[in-house]
Amino acid sequence: MKKKRAPEGQAEARIAEAIVEEHRIIRRTLDEVHAILNAEPGAAARERALAGAGAVLGYLRDLLGHHFEVEEKHGLLEDLVACEPRLRSAVRELYDEHTDLRERIGAICRLVAPPHAAAGGDLERLRRDFEAFRLALLEHEEKENDFISEVYNMDIGGG
Ligand SMILES: [Fe+2]
Ligand SMILES: [Fe+2]
Repeated sequence: MKKKRAPEGQAEARIAEAIVEEHRIIRRTLDEVHAILNAEPGAAARERALAGAGAVLGYLRDLLGHHFEVEEKHGLLEDLVACEPRLRSAVRELYDEHTDLRERIGAICRLVAPPHAAAGGDLERLRRDFEAFRLALLEHEEKENDFISEVYNMDIGGG
């Protein structure tokens, strides 16, 4: 396959690298919430899960707010289209997914805030909604990593 034209300048490549690093941080934070929510059963564990999840979910919501803004406002997604016009519709989908993912993490955070949390919370619903969100976000970031590695000729390992 023909090698893709990398975007002009180092600034774009540095932004892409920073975004890939944020994807790793986001993945670790998703794992952390997943572990908290799936701790051993029991009333005390349930209380701890709801209290612990609230703080990490708030952090995750803010992290994602910043992350999506960097991808949108610093033009990573536009750079991808400029280098590879055939990615245009895929990039439009990524924008739409940001809107959906922002709404979903906001709704999940509300489950661990008053009045839900004050009423004892609904751990099962929280687990279910978070798991669906986690899988959707991982899929979203994986698509971005694939596009970045293709367009910027970047080797993106796990971790
Ligand atoms: Fe994104
Ligand atoms: Fe991303």
